[in-house]
Amino acid sequence: MANLPLVRDSFGSRFGVVAAAAGSAVGLGNIWRFPLVTTQNGGGAFLLLYIGFVLLIGIPVMMSEFAIGRKAQLNAFGSFKKLAPNTPWFLVGFMGILTAFAILAFYSTVAGWTLEYFYQAGTGKLLMAENMEKNFSEFSSGTYRPLIWQLVVMLITAVVVYAGIKKGIEKFTKVLMPVLVFLIMLLALRSITLNGAMQGINYLFLPDWSVVNFRTVLMALGQAAFSLSIGMGTLITYGSYIPKDNNLLATTTQVAFTDTFIAILSSLMVVPAIFALSDITVSELSAGPGLVFEVLPDVFKSIPGGSILAVIFFALLSVAALTSTISVLEVVVAWLKEELRLSRKSATAIAAVSITMLGVLATLSFGELSGFTIFGKTIFGILDYTSANILLTFGALFIVVFVGWKLGKSEFILEISNEGTIKSYLFKVVFFIIRYIAPVAIGIVTIATFFVRGIV
Ligand code: PFF
Repeated sequence: MANLPLVRDSFGSRFGVVAAAAGSAVGLGNIWRFPLVTTQNGGGAFLLLYIGFVLLIGIPVMMSEFAIGRKAQLNAFGSFKKLAPNTPWFLVGFMGILTAFAILAFYSTVAGWTLEYFYQAGTGKLLMAENMEKNFSEFSSGTYRPLIWQLVVMLITAVVVYAGIKKGIEKFTKVLMPVLVFLIMLLALRSITLNGAMQGINYLFLPDWSVVNFRTVLMALGQAAFSLSIGMGTLITYGSYIPKDNNLLATTTQVAFTDTFIAILSSLMVVPAIFALSDITVSELSAGPGLVFEVLPDVFKSIPGGSILAVIFFALLSVAALTSTISVLEVVVAWLKEELRLSRKSATAIAAVSITMLGVLATLSFGELSGFTIFGKTIFGILDYTSANILLTFGALFIVVFVGWKLGKSEFILEISNEGTIKSYLFKVVFFIIRYIAPVAIGIVTIATFFVRGIV
């Protein structure tokens, strides 16, 4: 194609592919959002549903996205246009671009909080605070501080995205992700050995099915989609940078496993500590978005060397958040660059500025705009809830229907087997799930939720 550069930017190594995709998957969704929605939705039963969705829907959708992107060698929107010309399928790509706006707007708020906490931990202010909930609510309901940190997040994200794929993200995720896992393990160990932690462990691992309703099931599905970065074309975009000899099944399995492992570890890091350290109940505490910012500082207080660990933890959490924000911004930038023929520089600037404008409203939802609600939710709440539970789940649905019914078995298997070089009976199993099981499962969950209680 004349309008595209001859050599498309790509990931440099096999490990680089996994690091970048896992970098996108592992983020605030695992460490901040997962413990929160787990405690809000019944603990163990939610956890089991979540794992079921990762296996049944997450892995097939992730493979579908990689296959679409790598086959088309284009952004999310352009990929659908190329693989299904003269059809409305490009709208799925377009929905993905809109979802990227919604997600990055509220995600950058929380990423900003992590930077503030890194700063507070570094200056020693954090562990000096008497009451962690008060410390968090005072900060997050302010105006300038949270907004400034959000701007910093968007600026760093834009700079890395502008720099391109290979040099930035690949390098630093490779080193920092393992350190993050180690630290979360350490904190989880401390949390489960606190006095009174057993109640929290039971809550997480003994499922109570009586609390499960359709909404819980939808939340588990939405969380799986959010956490795995599927359903909006992030992995289509990254797929377009994956070399043709990469084993997509192996990459997908590694990414999904890493992501789920970190999510479970994170809830072990937070939930037992809530029971052990706080005098309020799970439902009271998990009603707000601040779990990680309220409970963990108390855990740090109770560990020798906690003040240093707090600094390292929030630094790494910020990095984990940034490797995800980068992947979301890249969706919009790749689209602007390839479809509207903008330079990477202008595409990055336009995307970052417009998303930040929406993001400001999300940040102010905890302060000046806290009284402004729609369906009882603040702007932040709406962006958070609808992006994961509605936009991503519908996105995932359309993606599997596209691969299962439009692209078709032979094209899909040709792509994931690297033109027949890799042989595995699993390819057929995955395709069967993509064509029949995943669409039915996602369809039932979304439609049932809608009829039972209205979608929001
Ligand atoms: N998966 C990221 C997380 O768990 O923090 C968030 C995310 C990134 C969602 C990219 C969606 C996405 F396309």
